[in-house]
Amino acid sequence: MRTTTARAHPNIALVKYWGKRDEERILPAAGSLSMTLDAFETTTTVVPDGDRSADVLELNGRAADAEQTERIARFLDHVRALAGSAQRVIVRSHNSVPTGAGLASSASGFAALATAAATAFDLDLDNPALSRLARLGSGSACRSVVPGMAVWHAGDDESSFAEPVRAPDMRMVIVTVDRGRKPVSSRTAMRLTAATSPFYPAWVSSTEQSLSEMVEACQTGDFTRIGEITESHALRMHALIQSTTPPIRFLRPASVAIFDTVAELRSNGLEAYATADAGPNVAVLVRPDDAAALAGELDDLGQVRIVGPGPGAQLLPEGLEVPAATAHKGTAQGGTAQEGITQEGPA
Ligand code: DP6
Repeated sequence: MRTTTARAHPNIALVKYWGKRDEERILPAAGSLSMTLDAFETTTTVVPDGDRSADVLELNGRAADAEQTERIARFLDHVRALAGSAQRVIVRSHNSVPTGAGLASSASGFAALATAAATAFDLDLDNPALSRLARLGSGSACRSVVPGMAVWHAGDDESSFAEPVRAPDMRMVIVTVDRGRKPVSSRTAMRLTAATSPFYPAWVSSTEQSLSEMVEACQTGDFTRIGEITESHALRMHALIQSTTPPIRFLRPASVAIFDTVAELRSNGLEAYATADAGPNVAVLVRPDDAAALAGELDDLGQVRIVGPGPGAQLLPEGLEVPAATAHKGTAQGGTAQEGITQEGPA
C-alpha cells in the first residue's frame, strides 16, 4: 500500500438522477446525464496508517464529524472488500468551495476518494470499474470519474456505471445565490420523494424518455434540444421534490428569478437554459460564444462563474498531498486549490 492523491470535479446533471431502486448498491431508478466541470475541484489524499483501528477523515484541514467519517468508512469497506485488506486509512480531503452547498458535491468527493483509494489499495481498475466503485459512495460520483459529458446507465451492479458521450462544446454560467449548507441532503430528500410523492412513478418513466432524447440531441449536436430538455427536466425534478410529504423546496425566490431572466433573455435572442441540482444555485447552459454575454446579464442576480467541460478524476503525481490537519491553515469551508495542497517529499 502507498499514499496516493487524486483530484476530481463536480458535475451538473442535464438529465437528473433522483431516486434509487437499490439503496445499498446505489442503483438509480433511471439513467442520467451530466457535464463534469473544470472548476470547484476536490483533492483527496489517502494515507495507509499502520495498525489504526478506524478510518480517519480530515475535511478542509479539520477533523470531520462522526457522520461524515462513518460514510467514508462504509465506502472504504467496499474498497477493502475488493482488495482483500483490513487496512484502515487517513483520508485528507480539500474542497475548493463550501461543502454541502450544492457545488462542492459529494460527486467530486467520492470520485476523488475512489480514485485515490483504488490506487492506495493496489486495485487495478479500468474506467467502468472505477465509476462503479465511486457510485457506491454517492450515485452522482460515478459521472465525475468521466471527463466532459457523461451518461450513467441505470443497469444492475455490473452495468451501472458512467461513460463519455459525444456532445457539442458548451459552457455553463454558474450563478451562486447562497453558499450555505442545504437544509436536507440529496440522499434524504430522494428517499422521501420515492416514499411519498404520488408523481414518482411518472418521474421515473419520463426520465428514461428524456435521457434517450438527450443522448440523441448530444450526439447530433442539437444545442437547442439539449437546452430544452435540460430546463424542463430540472423544473420537473423540483416540482417532484415539492410534492413530497412533508414538502421540500430547494429553489429560493432568487433561484426562480434566474429561471425567469433566462427565459426573457432567450426570447430576446440569447439562447440559454437554466438548471439547478438539490440546492438554490442555478447553472445556465449556453454556447461558448455566448457565455461572456450571458454572465454579464446575470451578474446582478448572484455571483457568476463561467465553467466548461472538465477532466475526469485523476491521480496526482506522487509527492503532491493534501496536508495533515495540524499543518493546514485553511478554513473549514474551503479555500483555493493552491491552499489545499502541498508538495511533500516523495512518499
Ligand atoms: C440533484 O449523488 O448526491 O444532484 O447517491 O444518495 O449520494 P446519493 O445522491 P447524490 O444526488 C445527486 C442528485 C442531483 C441530481 C444529479 O446529480 O443527477
